[in-house]
Amino acid sequence: MKKFAVIGQPIKHSLSPRIHSEFAKELGIDISYEAIEIAPKDFNSATKQLLENGYDGLNVTLPLKELAYSLADEVSQIGRESGAVNTLWKEKGKIFADSTDGKGLVEDLLNNQISLKDSNLVILGAGGAARSILPSVLSLHPKRLTLLNRTFEKSRALVDQFKASGVQIQALPMEEIPEGSLTGVINTTSAGVIGEDLILNQRIFQKADWSYDLNYSKETTYFNQLAKDAGIEVCLDGLGMLVGQAAISFKIWTGKRPSTNRVLNLIKSSL
Ligand code: ATR
Repeated sequence: MKKFAVIGQPIKHSLSPRIHSEFAKELGIDISYEAIEIAPKDFNSATKQLLENGYDGLNVTLPLKELAYSLADEVSQIGRESGAVNTLWKEKGKIFADSTDGKGLVEDLLNNQISLKDSNLVILGAGGAARSILPSVLSLHPKRLTLLNRTFEKSRALVDQFKASGVQIQALPMEEIPEGSLTGVINTTSAGVIGEDLILNQRIFQKADWSYDLNYSKETTYFNQLAKDAGIEVCLDGLGMLVGQAAISFKIWTGKRPSTNRVLNLIKSSL
């Protein structure tokens, strides 16, 4: 039996054990998958111990993704560009790491018939979540990508990091609106979830075809409600991305790719 876990703090409410158990059931693979709480100060020793003591793979969630990146011996290119990873495994005595969040997002967009090629996109936020999706989003060649963030310096630093991507990428202050009609707005901020309002120019929604909130909830998320109220009809939340990134991790560890639709519907109905 293969043995996996998701590590983070807090971790009690993680949906990953359920998602991976469903994948394993579907593919007829015998696995165990636990949720293990690890504090940042214990991360290095606890994680090495798990990987040395029979765990075939670990998913890593907040606030440990950057620490996981630093711990790993070999990191995928996307992981390096993200500066954070969510998937660890051991091979030939080394710790390997990858970041599957961005790929999970773009797969979910494709599943919803949304193409990023030649799009005029906005990403709200410039923290760890924004950085982790940027390599995958840019690889699909949007025409222009605008980063809006409350702390302008942080979005400018991200633009600097990714300016060689070949995509026209710019940072603007949060209240500003990029030129032209927008294809979509992706929210990576935690505003709303942490009880604070998201201060942005509501006119941004009038110019967009769709919104995608990396957050998810049983009801419409705070951000998607803002988008809906402004008339956007296609409002997606991050549950599809969560299941998508899990499926890619599962494939890395087992070589087998689970399908995501059934599990996504199952998880959605159990929220
Ligand atoms: P994560 O890893 O989830 O991205 P993070 O690195 O702490 O977490 O980044 C949180 C992001 O949400 C940041 O872009 C933050 O803006 P600042 O850089 O100005 O802090 C953004 N954010 C959080 N609360 C916000 C709010 N109420 N309004 C606007 N942006 C907010």
